[in-house]
Amino acid sequence: MKPIKVGLLGIGTVGSGTFNVLKRNQEEITRRAGRSIEIAMVADLNIERARELTNGVAEVVNDANLVVNNPDIDIVIELIGGYGIAKDLVLKAIANGKHVVTANKALLATHGNEIFKAAQEKGVMVAFEAAVAGGIPIIKALREGLTANRIQWIAGIINGTTNFILSEMRDKGLDFGAVLKQAQALGYAEADPTFDIEGVDAAHKATIMASIAYGIPMQFDKAYVEGITKLEASDIRYAEDLGYRIKLLGITKRTPEGIELRVHPTLIPEKRLIANVEGAMNAVLVQGDAVGATLYYGKGAGAEPTASAVIADLVDITRLATADPEHRVPHLAFQPAAISDLPI
Ligand code: HSE
Repeated sequence: MKPIKVGLLGIGTVGSGTFNVLKRNQEEITRRAGRSIEIAMVADLNIERARELTNGVAEVVNDANLVVNNPDIDIVIELIGGYGIAKDLVLKAIANGKHVVTANKALLATHGNEIFKAAQEKGVMVAFEAAVAGGIPIIKALREGLTANRIQWIAGIINGTTNFILSEMRDKGLDFGAVLKQAQALGYAEADPTFDIEGVDAAHKATIMASIAYGIPMQFDKAYVEGITKLEASDIRYAEDLGYRIKLLGITKRTPEGIELRVHPTLIPEKRLIANVEGAMNAVLVQGDAVGATLYYGKGAGAEPTASAVIADLVDITRLATADPEHRVPHLAFQPAAISDLPI
């Protein structure tokens, strides 16, 4: 069977990780997907760097439109970020009948309803495992592993940058600004780190999880969002003296009044597992009515952990796109259409 052709938009940290992991684990990935997955085109403004990273294996262009308009491309991976140009390109790719894989939580949390509607109308898939908690397969856990459950609540450390800052402030007594610079240098922080430290990035991710868990549209605008910028080293010390750790949690909960969606610093008793999640690691607790509490832990940011999620989506889409359409699991990679529009 001929390879499935992929176009990559943006070969930065996650893009180059995706390229490298696909190459390194090509044999296993091909076996699992049932077909070889080939990054045929890469679009990046830094064309020299893109050429160096791809080493002649893929065609490199600096205009992403050439990728989304290319009839030979089956799947587009969007790793540009933000909601301007990325949104246009994703919608164009969908309109051109391409499946999309994206790590762009900001785009999905704010424009996901429009994007998923367009995808559903066109009969293509939009997959986004990498958008929440990096390498932790939390979207698959919610959608597949816990599919029998009525999800009651989710609470998670879903922003690596802020968890790294809080950990370093506590352990090393460093100040906020110095640790933020380190988080940027290590590639954890967003291009604009305001989204990390003000809790917006965590709220984007909580919005996406709530949508999957409860079958509701993305409702980021209704989230309560508070970051860590008002915390001082003394708050962290006082919490410790009282036997607590401060963590920035993304929380979404089913209540009789509707769905709660909030992000804020939270005091957690130090004996709890989640209180001991340190550095840029992420952890997500999910409470289902049948399974009880489950906990997912791993790297929430960085090149290869995020690439691991991007490639899992590529494999899913390859399997589904290759299956006989009559026997396809419908829209496995989709955000479910609104089952109910529960008020938040
Ligand atoms: N800036 C994000 C974080 C990257 O720190 O978690 C991964 O989404």
